[in-house]
Formats: sequence, structure tokens, C-alpha cells
Amino acid sequence: MIKVITYGTFDLFHEGHYRLLQRAKALGDYLIVGVTTESFDKARGKLGVIDSLMTRIENVKKTGFADEIIIEESVGQKFSDIKKYNIDIFTVGSDWIGKFDYINDYCKVVYLERTKNISSTMLREQKRHIQRIGIIGTGRIANRFVVEARSVSGVNVQSVYNPHPNSAAKFSEKWDINPYSDLEEFYKDVDVIYIASPHETHYEYIKTSLEHGKHVLCEKPMVLKKSEAEEVFAYAKEKDLILMEGIKTAYCPGFHRLLGVAHSGKIGSIRNVEACFTKLEDPKHRELIDTNYGGSFLELGSYVMLPIFKLFGEEYEDLRFDTIKSENGIDIFTKASFKFSTGLATATCGLGVKSEGRLLISGTKGYIIVTAPWWKTTYFEVHYENPGEVEKYSETFLGDGLRYEINDFLMQLTNRGVNDFKLTRSESIAMSSAMEYFLKDQRG
Ligand code: CTP
Repeated sequence: MIKVITYGTFDLFHEGHYRLLQRAKALGDYLIVGVTTESFDKARGKLGVIDSLMTRIENVKKTGFADEIIIEESVGQKFSDIKKYNIDIFTVGSDWIGKFDYINDYCKVVYLERTKNISSTMLREQKRHIQRIGIIGTGRIANRFVVEARSVSGVNVQSVYNPHPNSAAKFSEKWDINPYSDLEEFYKDVDVIYIASPHETHYEYIKTSLEHGKHVLCEKPMVLKKSEAEEVFAYAKEKDLILMEGIKTAYCPGFHRLLGVAHSGKIGSIRNVEACFTKLEDPKHRELIDTNYGGSFLELGSYVMLPIFKLFGEEYEDLRFDTIKSENGIDIFTKASFKFSTGLATATCGLGVKSEGRLLISGTKGYIIVTAPWWKTTYFEVHYENPGEVEKYSETFLGDGLRYEINDFLMQLTNRGVNDFKLTRSESIAMSSAMEYFLKDQRG
């Protein structure tokens, strides 16, 4: 019996896939098809996949060509599958010519002619049609956003808005996009908005953007009052528009895996979470000068509260802030202590005090430790009572990580609401509420 194996994502199953499987089956007597997992695709930078793993498997099954379907979840798996299943022929489409020649040492490699003029990428783009992004604000994060957006398919950073024409012009020249200092004109040129302006301006920009029928991705902290968060989410819903808070950690694959492990029961019931993020900031930067909206909690609080709300939920019984302030009254180090009915948590952040930026999750059976920078989760360990018993997990994190957030925003536009679970509205509202409480507490 001749055994054949082939692999693919098989997203938005199309004729090219069908013809490939048909010819793969004809190469032998028994065909095994490997379908990639979501996390494997993400790890290799294929971010826009629309169909779930189950749908993709179902579609392969429906063709009737596969005698067996397996999942492909890591680099190097092909080699072990070939040995494990005693494969005679490995086959893929001709877009891969030369890439799998090394497999010739173990079995025969056949590159099948790729079907012309069709691909999942093409179908995804048709389904989505390119979204033109307009950025409000021209600060450091806006610069990083442009770079990251270029690695996501289905978007084009089209324009930038800054009320100061000089700033808009400088930014537009650097990135070769359209500059605007007239908001009405800016809205005419774009489909979706990314807000990266100073924190206190977010609320008004969100409302105006929604009013103009634009979907909004807003930098953290989205707004600084609970009532404002509730209002803008309700308004977005009413207008049938997507409003998403951009806390990049919430969307990165490693952080997701971490939440999965933490919730799996491995470390028992979660009883304590300590999240810390410090970044020594240049004293000349806005964060350490703006006495109204600068400071470490407004800047970094969203990151450190994220794992806490994700692990304990949003209903805390008590919240207390302890801060160290600089001479101008700005908090350069803040500890937010939360008390939940099932445990305790501290969210620590600093712009003028350096500490180990780690995330520690303690449970009744063990603990999880993620060293800095845990907010770009790539690696974490699970420890138990026996110090010798340690489980290690690693996950890819590409570029600056904003690409995951941008991609999820696009996914939400295409499949309304599907990915909302990564950062829910109620979690965003709870963050705004904590920000509001912090500002009240600090201002007496
Ligand atoms: N394939 C093909 N002809 C096409 C498209 C894909 O023969 N027009 C083959 C690929 O070469 C591969 C298999 O189908 O062997 C699965 O490919 P996959 O990457 O899932 O499909 P693509 O359409 O190439 O996906 P994408 O655009 O996301 O890269």
C-alpha cells in the first residue's frame, strides 16, 4: 500500500484545495491530510485565517479524498509524521517547490502544479475588502502601529489626523500617507479609525468617529470613566460598529496560552496574582510632565490589570492604591491592591522606579511564573511543591505584537463579535472604572 501525506491550512476551502487533494489521493492508496492549528498558523505569521480548525477539517473530510486527517501543530512535525505513519510520498503544491527537498532523504517528494488564480489569501481579501485605516495622533505608538499594520493583510494605513498641521505633515512624510488637520475631511478618506492621541482625548474622538460611521480601535486606556465606557460601547452597538480597546497583550498568542493553562486547574484554584510592569521613562516625555493625565498608572495600569481581570473576573470587593509621586505630583510608581472573594491581586507599575516586570499566578496546587516582558508573553513556567517538577511553555511573538490586535480587530469586522472574548466590553468597562477611581483617589 502506498501512503501519501500532504499538509495545509485549507482556509475558505476552494477549488485549488480540492484539486490538490484529488491528485494527492491519486498518487497512492491511502491519503493522510495534515491540517494546521490556529496557533501554528499564528506562530508562522499566517494571521488572517478565517475558518476555525473544525470547519477546515470538516471541509477536507467532505471531499472524500482523505483516509485520515491529522492536525499539524509545530515546526518539525512533518519529519516525525513521515516516520510515524510510514509515508511513501510527501506532496504539496508547486508554490512550495524546493522548500521540502530535504524530505527526499526519507520519502519521495512530489510538488503538484498549483491551481491558477485562486488562493485563500485572495478569498480573504475579497471577503474583507481592504480596510483603509486612519490614525488619530502622531506619537510613538502611532509610529509603531504603521510598521505593524504593514504585516497584516487586508489593511492599508491611509491617513493621519493631528489638529496641528505640522505634526500631521511630518508623520505623513515619514510614512507616505495622507495628512489631515481637518477632522471632517479625514473621515471621508478612511473606513476605520485607530485612536492613539493623548488619553483624555479618546472619549471625544471615539464618539465623533462612531458618529461618522467608523469602526474604532482605541489605544489603552480607552476612556477614564466607567460611565464613558458604558456610553461609547452602547453607542457603538446602536450604530452596529466595532469598538475595541487596544491592549496588545490581550491579543497575543502567548498570553492566551497562559490564560488557558492558568484556568486548566493545573495550579488548582487561583488565589493570588501579582503583575508588574515598569519602564524608566525620559523625564522630558509627556508621561512624566502632564500633571493631569501623565503618570505610571494611566500609562501602564491597563497592562497590569489585564491578567487580574482575566483570572479573577471584574467584580472586586476592594481596591486600594499606594503611590510614590515625583515633585510635580505625578505618580512614578503605583501599586493597586485588589481583593476578590476568591483571592488577592496586585497591579504594580512604574515610570520612575525599576523593578522586575514579572507576572506571578499562585494557586492551591502550584504557581505560574512569567518573567519580563510578560506583556509580550513568549515563555512561562509552571511550578509545583516539588521544586524539580517544572513545566515549560513557549509561544511566538512577532514584531512589536500590535499585529495581533490589528488582526483581531479586522476579524471582528468580518465576523462581528467573534473575537470579543479576548478583551470583553465588561473587562474594558472595569478598567475604565479602576482608572476613574485612581484619578479620584489621587486628586482627593
Ligand atoms: N494549493 C493549490 N492551488 C491553489 C492554492 C493552494 O494547489 N490555488 C495547495 C497548496 O500548494 C497546498 C494546499 O493547497 O499544498 C493547501 O494550501 P493552503 O496554504 O491551505 O492554501 P492557499 O490558498 O495557498 O492559502 P494562503 O493563500 O493562505 O497561503
